[in-house]
Amino acid sequence: MSKIIIAIDGFSSTGKSTVAKQLAKNLNYIYVDTGAMYRAVAYFALENELIGDGFFKEDDLVNRLGDISITFKFNETAGFAEVYLNGENIEAAIRTLKVSKYVSPVATLSAVRRKLVEQQQLMGKDKGIVMDGRDIGTVVFPEAELKIFMTASAETRAKRRYKELTDRGHELSYEDVLENVTTRDHIDSTREDSPLVKAEDAIEIDNSELTIEEQLETIVGLAEELI
Ligand code: C5P
Repeated sequence: MSKIIIAIDGFSSTGKSTVAKQLAKNLNYIYVDTGAMYRAVAYFALENELIGDGFFKEDDLVNRLGDISITFKFNETAGFAEVYLNGENIEAAIRTLKVSKYVSPVATLSAVRRKLVEQQQLMGKDKGIVMDGRDIGTVVFPEAELKIFMTASAETRAKRRYKELTDRGHELSYEDVLENVTTRDHIDSTREDSPLVKAEDAIEIDNSELTIEEQLETIVGLAEELI
């Protein structure tokens, strides 16, 4: 059986990672959440006061990129690899609305993207990987055998994200989540370096009305034709 690269791109909160995690489990592949890597850099910038309300010390962040080491470690209980920043588990800390607010500006910086893309390409060099993000099918692995582009209406996505965050005990309003989702979509789609676009050869799946099982079934079917 040959191993392939599966790239899953799409807008914020389309449920990419939920499906990608399951898919990787089904195929016995490695799963990499590249959004977690950009969130880790944003978290570092926040912790070091390089970004905040009304300021962004872009050059200082770029100069400190050498101080950032992002790793993943499989958590048996969670069933997926959690993200670490310089040895500290930051899986929960990066899933806040605050990090969500600052991650897209951080992700516009070419130096940040270069560093993370290089690491992502290394992680996928032996294939057998499911990677989700915004530029996986276009920039990180333009030669990926299977490319999926996930979409859903902004309201559907905000509702899902709102539920996910409130279930985890965060106190926030639906309006704030919707605003974050649409702002990130805008920044991610209009940035100069590696904007979020559907790769020409990607298969688009609008999952507004689909269950996770239905999405999985479709993607596993597509993958099995290629393996
Ligand atoms: O996937 P997630 O919503 O966690 O991603 C957070 C942010 O990281 C995105 O809104 C985007 O700004 C950035 N990102 C990116 N390229 C990727 C993955 C995420 O620019 N491959």
